Amino acid sequence: MIIAIGCDHAGFELKEAVKARLEVAGYQMIDVGTHSSESVDYPQYGHAVGRTVAEGKADRGIAICGSGIGISIACNKIPGIRAALCTSVEMAEMCRRHNNANVICMGARMIPEKLAFDMVDKWLETGFEGGKHERRINQLETEVFTKMGKVMVFDHPLIQHKVSLMRDVRTTSKDFRVLAKEVALLMAFEVTRDLPIQDVEIETPMCKTTVKELAGEDIAIIPILRAGLGFVEGMLELVPNAKVGHIGLYRDPVTHEAIEYYCKLPEDIDKRKIIVVDPMLATGGSAVAAIDFIKKRGGKDINFMCLIAAPEGIDLLTNAHPDVHIYIAAKDEKLDENAYILPGLGDAGDRLFGTK
Ligand code: PRP
Ligand code: URA
Repeated sequence: MIIAIGCDHAGFELKEAVKARLEVAGYQMIDVGTHSSESVDYPQYGHAVGRTVAEGKADRGIAICGSGIGISIACNKIPGIRAALCTSVEMAEMCRRHNNANVICMGARMIPEKLAFDMVDKWLETGFEGGKHERRINQLETEVFTKMGKVMVFDHPLIQHKVSLMRDVRTTSKDFRVLAKEVALLMAFEVTRDLPIQDVEIETPMCKTTVKELAGEDIAIIPILRAGLGFVEGMLELVPNAKVGHIGLYRDPVTHEAIEYYCKLPEDIDKRKIIVVDPMLATGGSAVAAIDFIKKRGGKDINFMCLIAAPEGIDLLTNAHPDVHIYIAAKDEKLDENAYILPGLGDAGDRLFGTK
């Protein structure tokens, strides 16, 4: 297990002691600082611990300041982090069992070193109970994520493999379309992870039982024409009741600006979970323009799903629409002088429809 650990000046000595002990026990530690008792600001270190865990670089995090309060607040600002400030071994146990706390916070000026060690041991060895607690945690996450978007790059081997095939210049339009459909279905599986579910009573051939069903959140899939069309079929296989809106945009060949030529969205767009789809996020101009239109029409819960993204496009989109969740199959290196993604896959629309 990899553990991120961080502290401010007040927590420095305890952090060093906890870290040394866990290293001896075989844990891999990522120390995000601070590295001395010189006065520093706890938010930076709380954020650093939270981000390291939220980005998947560490499995868990430990954050320490004088009281534990400031640094726990800082950690909890990061979407996906459940940081628990603990002052007893029982709290360390409960925050794992019920809250699946991925960060433990401690106040170095509040507790003796031995208690800190015991709390960390208990927190590391205790599992999450799931069940009703899972439902509650999901509510917590959904609420946080609606205020601040997340950027998720898929690392699933099947998605990686299929994207590699799509990149290959030898792949025909026919195979490209099949792969686009398959990748869209696999990605949609993750994008719909937060859909609300509810308990319903049914009867199996054996007995009555309570099972889960979708609580009826309606979905709108919005492809950016033309290349976004390649994703629609695969997504509809997974969510056949979704409505499909269309936004027609093309990039001006000289300025690379997105020009709108068509827009037709479901009337109740303001009530739907929206998934905007486009294989390529290059400069980000098309995605930003499309989401501008959708917001003007009342769209709120907006997700953006693409195959390949350039860092420039991710930056533009997250700055323009920080509330939008971005799902990416592969993050590439950069843009070339014509704003095409490198290594990329070329012009997605042309490859889908065989127009070049
Ligand atoms: C492609 C792609 C995106 C856009 C991405 O469309 O499908 O919509 O470029 O580039 P950006 O991030 O720099 O805006 P294109 O303009 O080639 O139109 P097409 O889908 O009709 O081929
Ligand atoms: N649009 C594409 O289709 N490909 C790119 O690499 C960039 C924009």
